[in-house]
Amino acid sequence: MADARTDSQPAPSLTSNRSTLPQTPEFRAYISSNWAQHPDLPPSPRVAAEYAAARRLRLSALYPGTRLIVPAGPARVRSNDTDYAYRAHSAFAHLTGWGSDAVPDSVLVLEPTADGHDATLYFLGAAGRDTQEFYANAAIGEFWTGPRPSLAHVAADLGLATRELAGLETVLDASDDTTLIVRDADPGLTDQLDGRRLLAAEDSDAVDETRDVTLARDLSELRFVKDDWELAEMTAAIEATKRGFDQIIADLAEAIETDRGERVVEGAFNRRARIEGNAVGYDTIAASGPHACYLHWTRNDGPVVPGDLLLVDAGVELDSLYTADITRTLPVSGTFTPVQRKVYEAVLEATDAARAIVKPGIRFRDIHAEAMRVIAEKTAEWGLLPASAEESLDGDGQWHRRYMIHGTSHHLGLDVHDCAKARRELYAEGILEPGMVFTIEPGLYFQPDDLTVPEELRGIGIRIEDNVVVTATGCDLLSGDIPRTADDVEAWMQALR
Ligand code: GLY
Ligand code: MN
Ligand code: MN
Repeated sequence: MADARTDSQPAPSLTSNRSTLPQTPEFRAYISSNWAQHPDLPPSPRVAAEYAAARRLRLSALYPGTRLIVPAGPARVRSNDTDYAYRAHSAFAHLTGWGSDAVPDSVLVLEPTADGHDATLYFLGAAGRDTQEFYANAAIGEFWTGPRPSLAHVAADLGLATRELAGLETVLDASDDTTLIVRDADPGLTDQLDGRRLLAAEDSDAVDETRDVTLARDLSELRFVKDDWELAEMTAAIEATKRGFDQIIADLAEAIETDRGERVVEGAFNRRARIEGNAVGYDTIAASGPHACYLHWTRNDGPVVPGDLLLVDAGVELDSLYTADITRTLPVSGTFTPVQRKVYEAVLEATDAARAIVKPGIRFRDIHAEAMRVIAEKTAEWGLLPASAEESLDGDGQWHRRYMIHGTSHHLGLDVHDCAKARRELYAEGILEPGMVFTIEPGLYFQPDDLTVPEELRGIGIRIEDNVVVTATGCDLLSGDIPRTADDVEAWMQALR
């Protein structure tokens, strides 16, 4: 038996057990000296800045006299001292125009004034070259993570007043239960504010979160209609996504030769996303053969087999953090079999029918209903339903939904499922307006063990997902340059393989 542990020394904190950092005054003086000036300030704010300012004005009008706190959020630990890739909260990006270059832990504060709000961005400005942080702090030091912008630089770049993050303490101290915060962006900061609110509300032992929830709702609803700059970003994200799909086709031979070929597909797309944008807007779904029937298949560890279909659902998120959300279903061999083509063309008919009704004034949920009409008619025509298409659509059975369990559309923007906290009456029941951007993504999925379908259909999963913007009279198909008819998909593959 091992001796009982008697050593009472605590475990070392992070890297203190392996630090080699020289601590002498001579070294500190030497490493802090002889550095060139930092670069000049940007001559004018980035284009996004004026759009973000207009969004802040709309928010300000909804909350007169109320202090609003919108954090970017902290870096999140993956394990030990390794973090996930940083991404600012979407509400923060929307209201500041700061995207992939946002500094973690930043906080936007809208301070009420007599006629609106003053916006101030609190963040951890770059430390001077005479500090230990400069060279010794592996989390934020310039020697480790690269230069961080100064307060003056960000103020010029985003057209916003900036202050050191430490100044946020004063904001919290001045806060009571009238101050609102985006709760999920930075749970630590939310806890701190809740503490101040409880102190202020003497007779209460719980924080009333109701108005914070309303703020999150309003911030979601402010994002329904995209401005011109957002539309340009969405268009660019979709163009980059097309190049990601091109890369998948170019690498398909390697995917077929590799045991976990779906990973080759994922890697081909994600590489393009990192080259052209910030990242993927959500985990890439690379689903070959029957995996296409699992709607969120992101393990992507299966083979890619000629004769099967390959469903890829992927989107490039640009540095602005706007993302595309596109699905294409490709015949691995380059040619659809007759039965694959039959199902593919049914899904295409559903998506084209749904898109044809899109115009200002219709309800969002009408788009889904129109896609379902086609899905019910096709599955009834193929003898899969225990009743007619009309009975399936109108009755309680909804049998056709067995083969497409998901919805047809969701709003798209900074989040792949944008405007997620909006009210149902403005989302599913909402009326379309010009500038709204959303997906149309019907599919048909015949599970490999579904005894209600003939064997030739089992294991076939097909989705076609497009992104559209509502115009004054109808909609524009933003993803129309990514081949979508069966013939065009085959020609695309022929050209790029
Ligand atoms: N990529 C997730 C979705 O299509 O909603
Ligand atoms: Mn989608
Ligand atoms: Mn998708």
